[in-house]
Parts: sequence; structure tokens; C-alpha cells
Amino acid sequence: MKEEELVQWAVEARTNAYAPYSGFAVGAALLAEDGRVFTGCNVENAAFGLTMCAERVAVFKAVSEGVREFEAIAIACGKVPCPPCGACRQVLYEFAPDLLVIMADAEGKEVQKAKLGELLPRGFGPKSLRA
Ligand code: THU
Repeated sequence: MKEEELVQWAVEARTNAYAPYSGFAVGAALLAEDGRVFTGCNVENAAFGLTMCAERVAVFKAVSEGVREFEAIAIACGKVPCPPCGACRQVLYEFAPDLLVIMADAEGKEVQKAKLGELLPRGFGPKSLRA
């Protein structure tokens, strides 16, 4: 799948964001190794701390359907491309330390790319527990 297409999935997923408190809508699209795309949006809550980020919604949807191998994630939010939060980096690292992270603005026009290892260097993952 082309990177532009994955970004468009994220842009579309963002339209489902439930963000009445922050007003900051985020969409994510996670590309699995088998070619499937799992989307997510942020889901806020009146008890603010229960808010779930778009990226983790996408990961949990995939894993709950038996999919654990991923190539890339596209994230769409804001006026400029926004990076995933620290909690989402950690959750992504569990399954895909070499993941390509494609960060886009809300419309998918401006795009920045990084590998997850750059965003979370020396991350703690399953191997750390076995070392
Ligand atoms: N948010 C995400 O969905 N992903 C991130 O990586 C950063 C933050 C959401 C959480 C909250 O609903 C809103 O953006 C403002 O923090």
C-alpha cells in the first residue's frame, strides 16, 4: 500500500474522533504485514484520564483480532504533523520496534516520517524481559 493511501485512511478515521474536551481530533491507520488496515480515533471521557489515543485504539483493534505484525502507522492531526505521545510509542514498540511512523497534519497534506526506534530509542520491550 502506498504511504499516501495510509495517510488518507488516517484522515478519514479522524472524522470519528470523540474529542469534546480537548477539541483535538486525531486519526490513525495501522498497516499490518498481511496488508490489512486497522484504524483508530481518539475517544475522550468526562473522567479525563480515561481518554484513549487514536494510535492505541488502532493497535488494540488489530491485536484483538489476532493481528500482531505491522509495517507502518499513519497519524493525522493538527495544523502541522503531530508525533505520537509517549504512551503510544511504548504500545507500538511492543509489537513493531521497526515500525515506520508517518505523521501528517489533519488534512494529510504535510507529512513527516520517522522510524519508531528514532522516536523511542533504547525502548523497553519483550526482549528486555528476557535479557
Ligand atoms: N491524542 C492522541 O489521540 N494521540 C496522541 O498520540 C496524542 C494525543 C489525543 C488524546 C486527547 O484526546 C487529545 O489528543 C489531546 O491530547
